[in-house]
Amino acid sequence: SLVDEWSGRHEKETTLKRLLGIEEVHIVAGNSDDSEQAQLLLADEAAKWIFANLKPRMITAVTGGTTIAKIADHLPQSSKIEQLQFVAARGGIGKDVQLQANTIAALFAEKLNGSYKTLYIPDRLSESAYEAMTQEPFVQEMMALYEQMSILVHGIGDATEMARRRSSSSEELKLLKEQQAVSEAFGYYFNARGEVVHRIRTIGVQLEQLEQTPHIVAVAGGAQKAHALDSYFQQAPKQTVLITDEGAADQLIKVH
Ligand code: G3H
Repeated sequence: SLVDEWSGRHEKETTLKRLLGIEEVHIVAGNSDDSEQAQLLLADEAAKWIFANLKPRMITAVTGGTTIAKIADHLPQSSKIEQLQFVAARGGIGKDVQLQANTIAALFAEKLNGSYKTLYIPDRLSESAYEAMTQEPFVQEMMALYEQMSILVHGIGDATEMARRRSSSSEELKLLKEQQAVSEAFGYYFNARGEVVHRIRTIGVQLEQLEQTPHIVAVAGGAQKAHALDSYFQQAPKQTVLITDEGAADQLIKVH
């Protein structure tokens, strides 16, 4: 828009596209770290993108977190796009139901008159429980949906912050420190070069599945997330659309 041009945001979008090697970047005004207005703009921009790109019968997977949780509020109440399906990209995280992928998938579905599939399993499984779970029909059904997803909407977090939020064991924290994890997205932890250094053993979207996913929408704002964004985008899929704010964008351009 004109306002974006006047503010120089348009130019920053172009810079970030080039730096991160992705085709689409949207920057909203403000810094989500300390501005509720910026958080609202971020959610609104993400909702607009999603609504504009959804087509009948599409499968959309969503992750959890505070950023993604806010998007549903900004989606229009609409039954214009038929037979949409929303799925949780992974099991629960932490204790707050409002921030879980399951809840968010249901909220998206409610807004857009679609159906949803949830995945109520612990965020962290023992190796034997994990193996057993993967044999369960409801898990296999979920995995089949991930194979067919058209859109993945996910947040990006700071590795240490996410580990803290998940009340990770001291062993896991030590491992993340040793491996120098910087960012986290959909249950994977990445180092400064964007390499996977750790993964939470849970049922969910697999990193390999992103390659064949037509649209990936990463929504993350706030200057504090600049290093996490820099880390994640070292190797992020090219078709990722980044929706961020000026706080994160300015800092990201500086640290990259
Ligand atoms: O995976 C990253 C997290 O979902 C980010 O959470 O949006 O609450 O910062 P957040």
